[in-house]
Amino acid sequence: MNSRKPVTLHRLREMHAAGEKIAMLTCYDAAFARVLDAAGVDSLLVGDSLGNVLQGRSSTVGVSPQDMAYHTACVARVNRTAWIIADMPFGSYQESTDVAMRNAVLLMQQGAHMVKLEGGGWTAPIVRFLVDRGVPVCAHLGFTPQSVHALGGYRVQGREEAAARTLRCQAEELAAAGATMLVLEMVPAAFARELTQALSIPTIGIGAGAGCSGQVLVLHDMLGLIAGEAPRFVRNFLDGSSSIEQAVRTYVSDVKGGRFPNDAVHGF
Ligand code: KIV
Repeated sequence: MNSRKPVTLHRLREMHAAGEKIAMLTCYDAAFARVLDAAGVDSLLVGDSLGNVLQGRSSTVGVSPQDMAYHTACVARVNRTAWIIADMPFGSYQESTDVAMRNAVLLMQQGAHMVKLEGGGWTAPIVRFLVDRGVPVCAHLGFTPQSVHALGGYRVQGREEAAARTLRCQAEELAAAGATMLVLEMVPAAFARELTQALSIPTIGIGAGAGCSGQVLVLHDMLGLIAGEAPRFVRNFLDGSSSIEQAVRTYVSDVKGGRFPNDAVHGF
């Protein structure tokens, strides 16, 4: 029996204010949603990484709004308490604020509590538009997988001073536009720690070090279901666990206890 109260935006803000780390994992279906919710994961991210993980694509670029709607509905149908974030896929928010709103509505109507979109600068007016119309938004900076071709592959972002300055400006602009959470992917741990301290909203790191306000991993990666070599920032939590639920409980407790990630092992 899951006795936890539903995780709301208010609760996430309280956790951030109290310095409690936020534990997030990707989730794309009902079977895993039940396990993750019961294991105490604060937030389930219906990530467009489902394009890689479930659909066998080499990037997230081919994922459609309909794919995201289908998987969001699967997760939302059985989730009881976790905060559900759905990714806006490539092409679903770039064109105009109206197109972004239409696709955000699609995801919210399937049960998402918040949508996530990638990039900074040009995205700030879109974030403002959605937030003003009742859609909570999570921003995503650093390595942004939908731009993998533009970025020249899977590379750490923000290593140079000028790039770090740009990312910091974009993060502040997104927070001012109303984004209430920020995913930071593959950026130097020291930069992410400093940015987290400077921002008023929680940062959720993936390959961004222990100084973030919370962590996210792709579920299949942390269960060792990964094709090829795991990225540096992934730990296999199924190793040494007797079940998937136990592995997920260990992840939650290690994130909250500051034992994962370890910057010396998982950081850039
Ligand atoms: O789609 C996804 O899984 C994500 C995470 C990498 C943060 O956006």
